[in-house]
Amino acid sequence: MRLAILGCGTVGSEVVRLLHEQSADLAARIGAPLEIAGIAVRRLGRDRGDLPVDPELFTTDAVGLIKRDDVDVVVEVVGGIEPARSWLVDALRAGKSVVTANKALLAEDGAALHDAAADGRADLYYEASVAGAIPLLRPLRESLHGDRITRVTGIVNGTTNFILSAMDATGAGFAEALEEATELGYAEADPTADVEGFDAAAKAAILASLAFHTRVGAADVHREGITEVTAADVASAQAMGCTIKLLCIAARGVDAAGRESVSVRVHPAMIPRSHPLASVGDAYNAVFVEADAAGPLMFYGRGAGGAATASAVLGDIVAVGRNRLAGVRAPSESAYADLAVRPMGEALTRYHVSLDVADKPGVLAAVAGVFARHDVSIATVRQAPAGTEPAGRGVDAVLVIVTHVAPDAALAATVEELRGLDAVRSIASVLRVEGGE
Ligand code: NDP
Ligand code: HSE
Repeated sequence: MRLAILGCGTVGSEVVRLLHEQSADLAARIGAPLEIAGIAVRRLGRDRGDLPVDPELFTTDAVGLIKRDDVDVVVEVVGGIEPARSWLVDALRAGKSVVTANKALLAEDGAALHDAAADGRADLYYEASVAGAIPLLRPLRESLHGDRITRVTGIVNGTTNFILSAMDATGAGFAEALEEATELGYAEADPTADVEGFDAAAKAAILASLAFHTRVGAADVHREGITEVTAADVASAQAMGCTIKLLCIAARGVDAAGRESVSVRVHPAMIPRSHPLASVGDAYNAVFVEADAAGPLMFYGRGAGGAATASAVLGDIVAVGRNRLAGVRAPSESAYADLAVRPMGEALTRYHVSLDVADKPGVLAAVAGVFARHDVSIATVRQAPAGTEPAGRGVDAVLVIVTHVAPDAALAATVEELRGLDAVRSIASVLRVEGGE
Protein backbone atom coordinates (compact mmCIF):
# COMPACT_ATOMS: atom_id res chain seq x y z
CA MET A 1 0.00 0.00 0.00
CA ARG A 2 1.77 3.16 -1.16
CA LEU A 3 1.01 6.55 0.32
CA ALA A 4 1.43 10.06 -1.00
CA ILE A 5 1.70 12.36 2.01
CA LEU A 6 0.78 15.95 1.22
CA GLY A 7 2.18 18.25 3.93
CA CYS A 8 4.80 17.62 6.58
CA GLY A 9 4.11 20.29 9.21
CA THR A 10 2.68 19.89 12.73
CA VAL A 11 0.43 16.98 11.78
CA GLY A 12 2.23 15.59 8.71
CA SER A 13 5.56 15.16 10.50
CA GLU A 14 3.84 13.14 13.25
CA VAL A 15 2.06 11.02 10.64
CA VAL A 16 5.43 10.25 9.06
CA ARG A 17 6.97 9.50 12.47
CA LEU A 18 4.14 7.15 13.49
CA LEU A 19 4.21 5.38 10.11
CA HIS A 20 7.89 4.67 10.75
CA GLU A 21 7.62 3.74 14.43
CA GLN A 22 4.60 1.48 14.03
CA SER A 23 5.26 0.06 10.59
CA ALA A 24 5.21 -3.60 11.68
CA ASP A 25 1.99 -3.28 13.69
CA LEU A 26 0.29 -1.26 10.97
CA ALA A 27 1.24 -3.85 8.35
CA ALA A 28 -0.15 -6.63 10.55
CA ARG A 29 -3.39 -4.75 11.16
CA ILE A 30 -3.93 -3.94 7.50
CA GLY A 31 -2.57 -7.16 6.03
CA ALA A 32 0.00 -5.39 3.85
CA PRO A 33 2.96 -3.11 4.53
CA LEU A 34 2.60 0.65 4.14
CA GLU A 35 5.23 2.52 2.17
CA ILE A 36 5.63 6.25 1.67
CA ALA A 37 5.86 6.98 -2.07
CA GLY A 38 6.60 10.67 -1.56
CA ILE A 39 5.99 13.69 0.68
CA ALA A 40 4.88 16.95 -0.90
CA VAL A 41 5.91 20.15 0.91
CA ARG A 42 6.23 23.81 0.07
CA ARG A 43 9.89 24.32 1.08
CA LEU A 44 12.38 21.56 0.24
CA GLY A 45 15.11 23.24 2.28
CA ARG A 46 13.12 23.43 5.56
CA ASP A 47 14.83 21.86 8.58
CA ARG A 48 12.68 18.86 9.54
CA GLY A 49 14.74 17.79 12.54
CA ASP A 50 15.38 14.08 12.93
CA LEU A 51 12.38 12.90 10.95
CA PRO A 52 12.98 9.19 10.21
CA VAL A 53 12.47 9.39 6.47
CA ASP A 54 14.62 9.35 3.33
CA PRO A 55 15.18 13.02 2.30
CA GLU A 56 14.82 11.91 -1.34
CA LEU A 57 11.09 11.37 -0.74
CA PHE A 58 10.41 15.11 -0.42
CA THR A 59 9.05 16.96 -3.43
CA THR A 60 7.32 20.23 -4.22
CA ASP A 61 5.39 18.57 -7.05
CA ALA A 62 2.21 17.47 -5.26
CA VAL A 63 0.29 17.05 -8.52
CA GLY A 64 2.96 14.78 -10.01
CA LEU A 65 3.10 12.72 -6.80
CA ILE A 66 -0.68 12.21 -6.66
CA LYS A 67 -0.77 11.11 -10.32
CA ARG A 68 1.88 8.44 -9.93
CA ASP A 69 0.52 4.99 -10.82
CA ASP A 70 2.11 3.43 -7.75
CA VAL A 71 0.21 5.73 -5.31
CA ASP A 72 -2.87 4.07 -3.75
CA VAL A 73 -3.68 6.43 -0.89
CA VAL A 74 -3.39 10.23 -0.66
CA VAL A 75 -3.01 11.70 2.83
CA GLU A 76 -3.65 15.46 2.83
CA VAL A 77 -2.37 17.42 5.84
CA VAL A 78 -1.67 20.76 4.16
CA GLY A 79 -4.91 22.64 4.85
CA GLY A 80 -6.74 25.46 3.05
CA ILE A 81 -9.13 25.36 0.12
CA GLU A 82 -6.87 25.46 -2.93
CA PRO A 83 -4.83 23.70 -4.14
CA ALA A 84 -6.02 21.01 -1.68
CA ARG A 85 -9.48 20.77 -3.27
CA SER A 86 -8.13 20.20 -6.81
CA TRP A 87 -5.59 17.65 -5.55
CA LEU A 88 -8.18 15.64 -3.65
CA VAL A 89 -10.89 15.80 -6.32
CA ASP A 90 -8.39 14.53 -8.91
CA ALA A 91 -7.14 11.79 -6.60
CA LEU A 92 -10.64 10.57 -5.74
CA ARG A 93 -11.80 10.64 -9.36
CA ALA A 94 -8.75 8.53 -10.19
CA GLY A 95 -9.93 5.95 -7.63
CA LYS A 96 -7.30 6.72 -4.98
CA SER A 97 -8.35 6.62 -1.34
CA VAL A 98 -8.12 9.96 0.45
CA VAL A 99 -7.46 10.66 4.11
CA THR A 100 -7.64 14.33 5.09
CA ALA A 101 -7.63 16.50 8.22
CA ASN A 102 -8.82 19.55 6.27
CA LYS A 103 -11.95 20.81 8.06
CA ALA A 104 -11.89 24.14 6.22
CA LEU A 105 -12.16 22.39 2.85
CA LEU A 106 -14.77 19.86 4.01
CA ALA A 107 -16.95 22.64 5.38
CA GLU A 108 -16.42 24.93 2.39
CA ASP A 109 -16.91 22.36 -0.36
CA GLY A 110 -17.38 18.89 1.08
CA ALA A 111 -19.84 18.25 -1.74
CA ALA A 112 -17.05 18.40 -4.34
CA LEU A 113 -15.06 15.78 -2.41
CA HIS A 114 -18.01 13.47 -1.79
CA ASP A 115 -19.10 13.71 -5.42
CA ALA A 116 -15.58 12.93 -6.61
CA ALA A 117 -15.40 9.96 -4.21
CA ALA A 118 -18.66 8.64 -5.65
CA ASP A 119 -17.42 9.19 -9.24
CA GLY A 120 -14.13 7.39 -8.58
CA ARG A 121 -15.69 4.76 -6.27
CA ALA A 122 -13.01 5.78 -3.78
CA ASP A 123 -12.82 6.12 -0.01
CA LEU A 124 -12.88 9.55 1.67
CA TYR A 125 -11.99 9.54 5.38
CA TYR A 126 -11.61 12.65 7.56
CA GLU A 127 -11.70 11.64 11.23
CA ALA A 128 -8.94 14.14 12.14
CA SER A 129 -10.89 17.10 10.76
CA VAL A 130 -13.05 17.44 13.89
CA ALA A 131 -11.83 17.20 17.47
CA GLY A 132 -8.35 15.85 16.62
CA ALA A 133 -7.71 12.54 18.33
CA ILE A 134 -11.28 11.93 19.50
CA PRO A 135 -12.99 9.07 17.65
CA LEU A 136 -16.14 10.98 16.80
CA LEU A 137 -16.89 10.98 13.08
CA ARG A 138 -16.82 7.21 12.72
CA PRO A 139 -19.34 6.77 15.58
CA LEU A 140 -21.57 9.33 13.87
CA ARG A 141 -21.03 7.89 10.41
CA GLU A 142 -21.29 4.21 11.36
CA SER A 143 -22.07 3.23 14.96
CA LEU A 144 -25.06 5.56 15.32
CA HIS A 145 -26.54 4.92 11.88
CA GLY A 146 -29.29 2.82 13.42
CA ASP A 147 -30.37 5.66 15.69
CA ARG A 148 -31.84 9.13 15.29
CA ILE A 149 -29.56 11.89 16.55
CA THR A 150 -31.43 14.88 17.91
CA ARG A 151 -28.68 17.19 19.04
CA VAL A 152 -24.91 17.58 19.05
CA THR A 153 -23.36 20.06 21.49
CA GLY A 154 -19.61 20.41 21.54
CA ILE A 155 -16.50 22.24 22.56
CA VAL A 156 -14.53 21.74 19.36
CA ASN A 157 -11.90 24.45 19.52
CA GLY A 158 -9.04 23.98 21.96
CA THR A 159 -7.60 27.49 21.71
CA THR A 160 -10.83 29.22 22.72
CA ASN A 161 -11.49 26.66 25.42
CA PHE A 162 -8.08 27.40 26.89
CA ILE A 163 -8.80 31.15 26.82
CA LEU A 164 -12.28 30.85 28.37
CA SER A 165 -11.03 28.40 31.00
CA ALA A 166 -8.25 30.84 31.94
CA MET A 167 -10.75 33.73 32.15
CA ASP A 168 -12.94 31.59 34.39
CA ALA A 169 -10.08 30.49 36.64
CA THR A 170 -8.27 33.81 37.05
CA GLY A 171 -10.79 36.56 36.27
CA ALA A 172 -8.55 37.73 33.42
CA GLY A 173 -9.98 39.64 30.47
CA PHE A 174 -10.02 38.26 26.92
CA ALA A 175 -6.85 40.07 25.77
CA GLU A 176 -4.82 38.89 28.76
CA ALA A 177 -6.00 35.27 28.39
CA LEU A 178 -5.24 35.34 24.65
CA GLU A 179 -1.73 36.57 25.42
CA GLU A 180 -1.19 33.65 27.77
CA ALA A 181 -2.56 31.21 25.16
CA THR A 182 -0.13 32.63 22.59
CA GLU A 183 2.84 32.44 24.97
CA LEU A 184 2.08 28.80 25.75
CA GLY A 185 1.75 27.93 22.06
CA TYR A 186 -2.02 27.21 22.10
CA ALA A 187 -3.01 30.21 19.99
CA GLU A 188 -1.46 30.80 16.59
CA ALA A 189 0.27 34.08 15.67
CA ASP A 190 -2.94 34.99 13.82
CA PRO A 191 -5.67 33.63 16.11
CA THR A 192 -8.58 34.90 13.98
CA ALA A 193 -9.83 31.50 12.80
CA ASP A 194 -10.05 30.29 16.39
CA VAL A 195 -11.22 33.32 18.38
CA GLU A 196 -13.75 34.45 15.75
CA GLY A 197 -15.26 30.97 15.63
CA PHE A 198 -14.41 30.09 11.98
CA ASP A 199 -12.61 26.88 12.99
CA ALA A 200 -15.48 25.77 15.25
CA ALA A 201 -18.04 26.67 12.56
CA ALA A 202 -16.27 24.46 10.01
CA LYS A 203 -16.34 21.58 12.49
CA ALA A 204 -20.00 22.28 13.31
CA ALA A 205 -20.86 21.97 9.61
CA ILE A 206 -19.10 18.59 9.37
CA LEU A 207 -20.79 17.28 12.53
CA ALA A 208 -24.23 18.46 11.45
CA SER A 209 -23.84 16.89 8.00
CA LEU A 210 -23.05 13.51 9.54
CA ALA A 211 -25.55 13.67 12.38
CA PHE A 212 -28.51 14.74 10.26
CA HIS A 213 -27.77 13.09 6.87
CA THR A 214 -27.85 16.50 5.26
CA ARG A 215 -25.26 18.60 3.47
CA VAL A 216 -24.41 21.50 5.78
CA GLY A 217 -21.66 23.94 4.79
CA ALA A 218 -19.77 26.63 6.69
CA ALA A 219 -22.07 29.29 5.22
CA ASP A 220 -25.08 27.60 6.88
CA VAL A 221 -23.59 27.96 10.35
CA HIS A 222 -24.42 30.98 12.51
CA ARG A 223 -21.06 32.05 13.95
CA GLU A 224 -20.04 34.29 16.83
CA GLY A 225 -16.55 34.21 18.35
CA ILE A 226 -15.35 34.96 21.88
CA THR A 227 -13.66 38.34 21.38
CA GLU A 228 -16.60 40.18 22.99
CA VAL A 229 -16.71 37.99 26.10
CA THR A 230 -15.69 40.17 29.05
CA ALA A 231 -14.46 39.47 32.57
CA ALA A 232 -17.83 40.88 33.72
CA ASP A 233 -19.66 38.25 31.63
CA VAL A 234 -17.57 35.52 33.21
CA ALA A 235 -18.27 36.90 36.70
CA SER A 236 -21.97 37.12 35.86
CA ALA A 237 -21.94 33.48 34.78
CA GLN A 238 -20.14 32.47 37.96
CA ALA A 239 -22.75 34.25 40.05
CA MET A 240 -25.35 32.01 38.34
CA GLY A 241 -23.38 28.80 39.02
CA CYS A 242 -22.35 28.69 35.35
CA THR A 243 -19.26 28.92 33.18
CA ILE A 244 -18.88 30.27 29.64
CA LYS A 245 -17.87 27.98 26.76
CA LEU A 246 -17.69 28.44 23.01
CA LEU A 247 -20.25 25.87 21.94
CA CYS A 248 -21.08 24.35 18.61
CA ILE A 249 -24.71 23.30 18.63
CA ALA A 250 -26.46 21.36 15.89
CA ALA A 251 -30.06 20.47 16.64
CA ARG A 252 -33.11 19.06 14.96
CA GLY A 253 -36.35 21.03 15.20
CA VAL A 254 -39.15 22.38 13.10
CA ASP A 255 -39.01 25.54 11.04
CA ALA A 256 -41.62 28.30 10.87
CA ALA A 257 -43.57 26.24 8.31
CA GLY A 258 -43.63 23.19 10.61
CA ARG A 259 -41.15 21.16 8.54
CA GLU A 260 -38.39 19.17 10.19
CA SER A 261 -35.13 21.08 9.86
CA VAL A 262 -31.82 21.67 11.59
CA SER A 263 -30.14 24.67 13.18
CA VAL A 264 -26.37 24.89 13.39
CA ARG A 265 -24.63 27.56 15.40
CA VAL A 266 -21.40 28.47 17.13
CA HIS A 267 -21.38 31.07 19.89
CA PRO A 268 -20.30 31.58 23.47
CA ALA A 269 -22.89 30.44 26.00
CA MET A 270 -23.31 30.00 29.73
CA ILE A 271 -23.69 26.40 30.85
CA PRO A 272 -24.37 25.19 34.39
CA ARG A 273 -21.29 23.88 36.19
CA SER A 274 -23.14 20.58 36.56
CA HIS A 275 -23.28 20.12 32.74
CA PRO A 276 -20.81 17.48 31.46
CA LEU A 277 -19.20 20.05 29.14
CA ALA A 278 -18.53 22.54 31.98
CA SER A 279 -15.63 20.52 33.37
CA VAL A 280 -13.83 20.36 30.01
CA GLY A 281 -10.88 22.63 30.69
CA ASP A 282 -7.57 23.64 29.17
CA ALA A 283 -7.33 23.00 25.42
CA TYR A 284 -9.40 19.82 25.51
CA ASN A 285 -12.41 19.14 23.29
CA ALA A 286 -15.61 17.30 24.12
CA VAL A 287 -18.76 16.55 22.19
CA PHE A 288 -22.10 15.63 23.73
CA VAL A 289 -24.38 13.69 21.39
CA GLU A 290 -28.05 13.03 22.13
CA ALA A 291 -29.84 10.27 20.23
CA ASP A 292 -33.35 8.86 20.58
CA ALA A 293 -32.43 5.31 21.52
CA ALA A 294 -28.85 5.68 22.77
CA GLY A 295 -29.60 8.68 24.96
CA PRO A 296 -26.70 10.99 25.85
CA LEU A 297 -23.16 10.13 24.77
CA MET A 298 -20.01 12.07 25.60
CA PHE A 299 -16.76 12.08 23.60
CA TYR A 300 -13.72 13.70 25.22
CA GLY A 301 -10.03 14.13 24.47
CA ARG A 302 -7.32 16.12 22.74
CA GLY A 303 -8.71 18.14 19.87
CA ALA A 304 -5.40 19.34 18.46
CA GLY A 305 -1.66 18.80 18.40
CA GLY A 306 0.56 16.91 15.98
CA ALA A 307 0.62 13.47 17.60
CA ALA A 308 -3.02 13.50 18.74
CA THR A 309 -4.25 14.50 15.29
CA ALA A 310 -1.90 12.02 13.61
CA SER A 311 -3.50 9.24 15.67
CA ALA A 312 -6.81 9.92 13.90
CA VAL A 313 -5.08 10.14 10.51
CA LEU A 314 -3.35 6.78 11.08
CA GLY A 315 -6.67 5.20 12.06
CA ASP A 316 -8.10 6.34 8.74
CA ILE A 317 -5.06 5.04 6.84
CA VAL A 318 -5.59 1.61 8.39
CA ALA A 319 -9.28 1.72 7.46
CA VAL A 320 -8.69 2.65 3.82
CA GLY A 321 -5.86 0.11 3.61
CA ARG A 322 -8.13 -2.68 4.80
CA ASN A 323 -10.91 -1.60 2.46
CA ARG A 324 -8.56 -1.60 -0.53
CA LEU A 325 -7.26 -5.06 0.27
CA ALA A 326 -10.78 -6.40 0.73
CA GLY A 327 -11.93 -4.65 -2.45
CA VAL A 328 -14.69 -2.78 -0.60
CA ARG A 329 -15.53 0.86 0.03
CA ALA A 330 -16.37 2.76 3.18
CA PRO A 331 -20.00 3.80 3.60
CA SER A 332 -20.48 6.64 1.14
CA GLU A 333 -21.89 10.06 2.01
CA SER A 334 -25.35 9.90 3.57
CA ALA A 335 -27.24 13.08 2.72
CA TYR A 336 -30.62 11.57 1.89
CA ALA A 337 -32.56 13.51 4.57
CA ASP A 338 -31.71 16.82 2.88
CA LEU A 339 -33.19 18.85 5.75
CA ALA A 340 -33.50 22.62 5.50
CA VAL A 341 -31.15 24.65 7.70
CA ARG A 342 -33.13 27.10 9.84
CA PRO A 343 -31.94 30.70 10.15
CA MET A 344 -30.50 31.69 13.55
CA GLY A 345 -33.61 33.72 14.35
CA GLU A 346 -35.60 30.47 14.50
CA ALA A 347 -33.10 28.62 16.71
CA LEU A 348 -34.49 28.02 20.19
CA THR A 349 -32.24 29.48 22.86
CA ARG A 350 -32.36 31.07 26.32
CA TYR A 351 -30.85 34.40 27.28
CA HIS A 352 -29.21 35.68 30.45
CA VAL A 353 -29.52 39.47 30.55
CA SER A 354 -27.89 41.66 33.18
CA LEU A 355 -29.26 45.20 33.33
CA ASP A 356 -28.13 48.31 35.23
CA VAL A 357 -31.39 49.96 36.29
CA ALA A 358 -32.84 52.68 38.49
CA ASP A 359 -34.20 51.21 41.76
CA LYS A 360 -37.68 52.77 41.81
CA PRO A 361 -41.32 51.73 41.43
CA GLY A 362 -42.41 50.47 38.02
CA VAL A 363 -38.97 49.54 36.70
CA LEU A 364 -39.39 45.78 37.04
CA ALA A 365 -42.87 46.00 35.51
CA ALA A 366 -41.56 48.01 32.56
CA VAL A 367 -38.73 45.55 31.97
CA ALA A 368 -41.04 42.55 32.30
CA GLY A 369 -43.44 44.19 29.85
CA VAL A 370 -40.76 44.21 27.14
CA PHE A 371 -40.24 40.46 27.52
CA ALA A 372 -44.01 39.90 27.43
CA ARG A 373 -44.41 41.97 24.26
CA HIS A 374 -41.97 39.69 22.46
CA ASP A 375 -43.64 36.55 23.83
CA VAL A 376 -40.54 35.65 25.82
CA SER A 377 -41.20 33.91 29.12
CA ILE A 378 -38.98 34.84 32.07
CA ALA A 379 -37.59 31.91 34.09
CA THR A 380 -35.82 33.75 36.92
CA VAL A 381 -35.34 37.36 38.06
CA ARG A 382 -32.81 38.47 40.60
CA GLN A 383 -32.30 42.03 41.77
CA ALA A 384 -29.36 43.16 43.88
CA PRO A 385 -28.23 46.59 45.03
CA ALA A 386 -25.57 48.04 42.77
CA GLY A 387 -22.06 47.04 43.74
CA THR A 388 -23.02 43.65 45.14
CA GLU A 389 -23.24 42.07 41.69
CA PRO A 390 -20.27 41.65 39.39
CA ALA A 391 -22.01 43.80 36.81
CA GLY A 392 -22.77 46.61 39.26
CA ARG A 393 -20.98 49.80 38.40
CA GLY A 394 -22.40 52.62 40.52
CA VAL A 395 -26.00 52.23 39.34
CA ASP A 396 -28.99 51.88 41.60
CA ALA A 397 -29.60 48.19 41.06
CA VAL A 398 -28.60 45.26 38.94
CA LEU A 399 -31.37 43.16 37.49
CA VAL A 400 -30.43 39.70 36.25
CA ILE A 401 -33.04 37.96 34.12
CA VAL A 402 -32.87 34.45 32.68
CA THR A 403 -35.50 33.47 30.14
CA HIS A 404 -37.14 30.23 29.17
CA VAL A 405 -36.47 28.89 25.70
CA ALA A 406 -37.64 31.17 22.87
CA PRO A 407 -36.74 31.84 19.24
CA ASP A 408 -33.44 33.73 19.07
CA ALA A 409 -35.04 36.52 17.02
CA ALA A 410 -37.57 37.21 19.78
CA LEU A 411 -34.82 37.28 22.40
CA ALA A 412 -32.66 39.60 20.31
CA ALA A 413 -35.61 41.94 19.70
CA THR A 414 -36.31 41.98 23.45
CA VAL A 415 -32.76 43.08 24.20
CA GLU A 416 -32.96 45.72 21.48
CA GLU A 417 -36.12 47.19 23.00
CA LEU A 418 -34.62 47.07 26.51
CA ARG A 419 -31.75 49.24 25.27
CA GLY A 420 -34.22 52.03 24.53
CA LEU A 421 -36.11 51.77 27.82
CA ASP A 422 -35.75 54.83 30.12
CA ALA A 423 -35.51 52.65 33.22
CA VAL A 424 -32.53 50.74 31.79
CA ARG A 425 -29.31 52.69 32.19
CA SER A 426 -27.20 50.10 30.40
CA ILE A 427 -27.12 46.45 29.48
CA ALA A 428 -24.12 45.02 31.29
CA SER A 429 -24.17 41.59 29.72
CA VAL A 430 -26.19 39.44 27.32
CA LEU A 431 -25.32 35.77 26.96
CA ARG A 432 -27.13 32.75 25.69
CA VAL A 433 -27.71 29.95 28.21
CA GLU A 434 -27.54 26.30 27.23
CA GLY A 435 -28.00 23.02 28.98
CA GLY A 436 -30.23 23.98 31.87
CA GLU A 437 -33.74 23.43 30.52
P1 NDP B 1 1.25 23.18 9.09
O1 NDP B 1 1.16 24.60 8.64
O2 NDP B 1 2.04 22.88 10.29
O3 NDP B 1 1.81 22.29 7.89
C1 NDP B 1 1.37 22.48 6.57
C2 NDP B 1 2.25 21.64 5.65
O4 NDP B 1 1.77 21.78 4.33
C3 NDP B 1 3.71 22.05 5.63
O5 NDP B 1 4.53 20.91 5.63
C4 NDP B 1 3.86 22.82 4.33
O6 NDP B 1 5.14 22.71 3.73
C5 NDP B 1 2.87 22.11 3.46
N1 NDP B 1 2.37 22.94 2.37
C6 NDP B 1 1.78 24.15 2.45
N2 NDP B 1 1.45 24.58 1.21
C7 NDP B 1 1.83 23.62 0.35
C8 NDP B 1 1.79 23.48 -1.06
N3 NDP B 1 1.24 24.42 -1.82
N4 NDP B 1 2.29 22.35 -1.61
C9 NDP B 1 2.84 21.38 -0.84
N5 NDP B 1 2.91 21.47 0.51
C10 NDP B 1 2.41 22.57 1.09
O7 NDP B 1 -0.27 22.68 9.26
P2 NDP B 1 -0.83 21.60 10.30
O8 NDP B 1 -0.01 20.38 10.24
O9 NDP B 1 -1.06 22.24 11.61
O10 NDP B 1 -2.29 21.32 9.71
C11 NDP B 1 -2.49 20.49 8.57
C12 NDP B 1 -3.98 20.20 8.42
O11 NDP B 1 -4.44 19.51 9.59
C13 NDP B 1 -4.87 21.43 8.28
O12 NDP B 1 -5.94 21.13 7.44
C14 NDP B 1 -5.39 21.65 9.71
O13 NDP B 1 -6.61 22.33 9.75
C15 NDP B 1 -5.55 20.21 10.15
N6 NDP B 1 -5.54 20.01 11.58
C16 NDP B 1 -4.50 20.48 12.33
C17 NDP B 1 -4.48 20.29 13.69
C18 NDP B 1 -3.36 20.76 14.52
O14 NDP B 1 -3.40 20.57 15.75
N7 NDP B 1 -2.32 21.36 13.95
C19 NDP B 1 -5.61 19.59 14.37
C20 NDP B 1 -6.62 19.09 13.48
C21 NDP B 1 -6.60 19.31 12.14
P3 NDP B 1 6.50 23.23 4.47
O15 NDP B 1 6.73 22.26 5.59
O16 NDP B 1 7.52 23.17 3.42
O17 NDP B 1 6.17 24.59 4.96
N1 HSE C 1 -6.92 25.59 16.10
C1 HSE C 1 -7.65 24.40 16.42
C2 HSE C 1 -7.99 24.41 17.91
C3 HSE C 1 -6.77 23.20 16.05
O1 HSE C 1 -7.58 25.32 18.65
O2 HSE C 1 -8.74 23.55 18.35
C4 HSE C 1 -7.54 21.94 15.85
O3 HSE C 1 -8.44 21.98 14.82
